[in-house]
Amino acid sequence: MDVPPAAAAASSSNDDASQARRLVMLEQLTSGYGFDTEAAEKALDEVGPTSEVSVVVNYILENGMGKDRGGSVVPKTDCPHVNDHVKVTTEKLPDHPQHALCSFFAQEDQDMDDNNNKDRIGRLKSDTDDPDDNGKSCPAGENWFCMECGAIRCSRYVNGHCLAHYQETEKGEESTTGHCIAASLVDLSVWCYKCEAYVQDPLLDPLIQRLEQLKFQEASEPKKKKPRQSHPNDERYRVAQSSGDETTSNNNNDSNDNDDDDDEEDNDSDASPTIIDIATAVARGIPIGLFQSSENEEEEELQYSFDKLPKSVEDVAKFIQSDKCRNIVILAGAGMSVAAGIPDFRSANGLYATMNPDLLSADPVEREAIRMDPTVALEQGMFLQNPLPCLELNREFILGTRNQKWKATLAHRFVELLHAKTGKLVRLYTQNIDGLEDQCTQLPRDKVIAVHGSMDRAECAHCGQESDYGQFCDRVRDQIKDLSGNDEQAPQESTPITCTTCGSRAVKPAIVLFRSSLPMTFFENVPRDVLDVDLLIVIGTSLRVAPANSLVWRIPKTALRLLVNREPVGWHLGVAYGPDSKRDVFAQGNCDFVLLDLMAHLGWLDDLRPLLDEQKLPDACAALLRNRLGKEDESSSANPSS
Ligand code: APR
Repeated sequence: MDVPPAAAAASSSNDDASQARRLVMLEQLTSGYGFDTEAAEKALDEVGPTSEVSVVVNYILENGMGKDRGGSVVPKTDCPHVNDHVKVTTEKLPDHPQHALCSFFAQEDQDMDDNNNKDRIGRLKSDTDDPDDNGKSCPAGENWFCMECGAIRCSRYVNGHCLAHYQETEKGEESTTGHCIAASLVDLSVWCYKCEAYVQDPLLDPLIQRLEQLKFQEASEPKKKKPRQSHPNDERYRVAQSSGDETTSNNNNDSNDNDDDDDEEDNDSDASPTIIDIATAVARGIPIGLFQSSENEEEEELQYSFDKLPKSVEDVAKFIQSDKCRNIVILAGAGMSVAAGIPDFRSANGLYATMNPDLLSADPVEREAIRMDPTVALEQGMFLQNPLPCLELNREFILGTRNQKWKATLAHRFVELLHAKTGKLVRLYTQNIDGLEDQCTQLPRDKVIAVHGSMDRAECAHCGQESDYGQFCDRVRDQIKDLSGNDEQAPQESTPITCTTCGSRAVKPAIVLFRSSLPMTFFENVPRDVLDVDLLIVIGTSLRVAPANSLVWRIPKTALRLLVNREPVGWHLGVAYGPDSKRDVFAQGNCDFVLLDLMAHLGWLDDLRPLLDEQKLPDACAALLRNRLGKEDESSSANPSS
């Protein structure tokens, strides 16, 4: 596969490369982590050239220049501690969660009066070298609510008293001790200190729903608060990010970086959207409106790109054909290739639900981390530590890609025809790494940006050197065990693939691993591509992964958004469904079926016929097309004049 032109240009000179790198990091720091642009720029100036975004993140945190609000963390749904440690009832919840203050010092006073245990508390207190402490109160900032006893304690960005509360109540190794479950009174996420993870559990739902009501309904001017995903005590997140300097970063966890807390609270509506799993919103019963961007407030004044919101696929076809629709961007995900036989990631039969961590070549700690969050297996940090789980999970995919096992689907063909027939396609941004769009010969390469890289090249995750693709595939075949057990030739044990340039055991397909940067082409093209978009078509993606999902809100607020998916997605990004929808059209169903229908309304069915003769479609798509063509042929022979 060719190096994308923009990436090649970026590497043509050192200056360009470092400027490009800077842009990428700026994007990560602002969109990914939610830091202010000014703080991110300043930190980049101070830290100087570095390839580690975590170094800059830690600099920002340690210097109180911002809060860590980014990072995608999938909540754990099987926390074994919820049952034992959630004891409060809804009556015990604070009446005004947004104004609740940390009661640590009040408790400490009482403890001292009682001449009680004060060692751990005392240590933490003396570590907090803040003159405000003399006034015996924690400054305003983020607070957490203990789900066991109802104590309200501040986050690590204030004085770290919630963590102290958990440690203080823990007695030895016993899992039944320690008040480990706490809810953030800022974004109502729930954290388990024992699991070191966000958690979701039906037992928590009534409490969170009540907190939600208290927090948002009683506010005189309800704020549209964007929930944050990373936890104030989420060391796992930073460990996964960083190259080993987490000790320094963690030492300052309790530093008082809250001077601008109020400002941050006020500025939150301007902050870049952060990721939240839509399942989190649904499980907690959080009203969707809270997640919508402010665009609805301005809806009266907006001049939409369409006259009337389309109500059917046929209406969408008419809009595409109209002069009003000049520029179309497509954002695609794994659903687009499901009909080809490639499972998606997050469906019930997707990669994450069906993988068996016990089969992976990983030590118990790694395996547990993968069990808790399957994406860990595909993280850059994990790959550099142990590349085998990633290679094992991808073995079939790597070899299938080499053998051109899969065929482009009708959804791919829709994109091809959209370009060929209308010339309105600005770009296909695909998160897929299967390269199936390459089979669409009428779709020029520069119309496609594979934002998560591609399976049909190989490179070293350590030195970046491209490896010979054929050799890489042979090594995968010979060195990586087959989890499916179908390949009798596969080895019983896996061994890593060594880079011939740097000697690291880190050769991988040229895909973008979690926690690593997207290709430069994404950052270079998105700002231009989104400018005059009239229609965004979102196909088969859960919209769970940033920054690709940001296209949904980066396009003009006047553009139509067509979501083609099996289920509604993107509430957290402001996508609206049903009567609330001002510019979103949801075409529910398998994307091949929906897009075939759209192509029929656009009058493109005849353009698809040759694909049947040439056997270029996957079986499922061929059957679908045959069926549709049969019906069309029947109806035209019944109505020759039509
Ligand atoms: N038609 C329409 N929608 C479908 C179909 C189909 N045939 N099959 C699956 N879907 C839907 C699923 O219901 C789901 O909402 O497509 C979505 C697929 O979501 P994910 O599995 O999360 O895939 P994707 O959004 O592409 O994932 C994004 O996450 O793991 C990473 O890097 C990986 O690029 C991937 C990224």
